[in-house]
Amino acid sequence: MTVIETAELTKRFPAVLAVDRVSLTVEQGQVFGFLGPNGSGKTTTIGMLMGIIKPTAGSFRLFGAGAPRDLLAARARVGATLETPNFYPYLSGRDNLRIAAAIKGIGKARIEECLEIVGLRGRGKHRFRTYSLGMKQRLALAATMLNDPELIVLDEPANGLDPKGMKEVRDIIRLLADRGKTIFLSSHLLWEVERTCTHVSIVRKGRVVGTGTVAEIVGGEVSAVVRAER
Ligand SMILES: Nc1ncnc2c1ncn2[C@@H]1O[C@H](COP(=O)(O)OP(=O)(O)O)[C@@H](O)[C@H]1O
Ligand SMILES: [Mg+2]
Repeated sequence: MTVIETAELTKRFPAVLAVDRVSLTVEQGQVFGFLGPNGSGKTTTIGMLMGIIKPTAGSFRLFGAGAPRDLLAARARVGATLETPNFYPYLSGRDNLRIAAAIKGIGKARIEECLEIVGLRGRGKHRFRTYSLGMKQRLALAATMLNDPELIVLDEPANGLDPKGMKEVRDIIRLLADRGKTIFLSSHLLWEVERTCTHVSIVRKGRVVGTGTVAEIVGGEVSAVVRAER
């Protein structure tokens, strides 16, 4: 099953062509990396997929749905972290999830499951403001997973994390992939994508310059170009 399909997807802001005719296909079960330097259009692309940014041209489908009304239903099968959600600093991690769950009509058991997946069950009763950045990111992941989405979209999930925090996020992504979830994540770190993803598209200045399995891309010509530019 094709989970994400974009066709010539384009976003032009007044001063910049942020996303330039991007066509990519993400199949069920893939851990798909959208790899590119800062400013290459990753967040804008994700924003369009999530319905927050209106495309200038081109189109996309989620779970085969392309019409606005169908996309609304399709997005119920997606969990996304576009930016760190607004958690309440003085509430515990668990209580923050309870609030998010209440809004979505999700029960207690699922909150505990999500805390378990991200390794925060033991720290669930502590206040959010006492959490390390890595724990905050993991709580955001837990909130994203509350409705048990089939597709999980993560915008730079490793951003700002130390190596230990990155490994924790990587392990969570692997766990989710093992459970059959499809993951689409953006990153500006080649080695993070190498370690985490099965497939990758490399984007530069809004254009996709290479797509393949990680094995195909790593060590290949495209990778050499990206390495040389870093
Ligand atoms: N709301 C906006 N208005 C104008 N320009 C924007 C806006 N959002 C992003 N851009 C520009 O679009 C380009 C792509 O940005 P972005 O999608 O955030 O890249 P990335 O996530 O890869 O760092 C950048 O040049 C950025 O400055
Ligand atoms: Mg970004």
